[in-house]
Amino acid sequence: MSVVIEQPNQPRSRKGAQWEKRAWIFMRVSGLLLIFLILGHLMVNLVLPERGVKSIDFAFVAGKWASPFWQVYDGIMLWLALIHGTNGMRTLVNDYSEREWVRKTLNVSLWVVAIALIILGTLVITTFDPCIDPDVETYLPNVCKP
Ligand code: HEM
Repeated sequence: MSVVIEQPNQPRSRKGAQWEKRAWIFMRVSGLLLIFLILGHLMVNLVLPERGVKSIDFAFVAGKWASPFWQVYDGIMLWLALIHGTNGMRTLVNDYSEREWVRKTLNVSLWVVAIALIILGTLVITTFDPCIDPDVETYLPNVCKP
């Protein structure tokens, strides 16, 4: 059984052509950056020796986010993936939704969810406190001073 995807028959956007061109370039550039960011993320979390999904626990996350490098790395990945994914969905909504109110409702919902997730994710990355774990000194001896 084959699935036929309809041609976009409602291509609309309230933005101008110049804005859409910039959004399209952003999709290409962010897509390229995401390849490297996601590959690095998978390598460090899952592939490198002595790692693997079983080793991803509180201590692992605490160790990573004790470093400003991984805070910035994960923050950039979070922002790029969410803006890229949301803008991609905006394109699909603009292409396929037939009624104006549906298009607007979906697009507003998409950005509300994306902005909420960006704010929450950024707060988690930047305010994460490993010292709430009483056993933290056993795995991060130099991070939490009494
Ligand atoms: C390795 C990472 C990724 C690469 C290389 C990539 C690349 C791209 C490119 C080049 C486009 C534009 C297609 C076009 O307009 O012709 C696109 C569209 C899109 N991307 Fe990504 N992307 C990546 C990750 C993601 C992630 C993590 C999400 C979701 C959070 C996502 C969701 C979308 C969506 C919804 C579209 C719109 C699809 C469409 O217009 O038909 N992508 N992607």
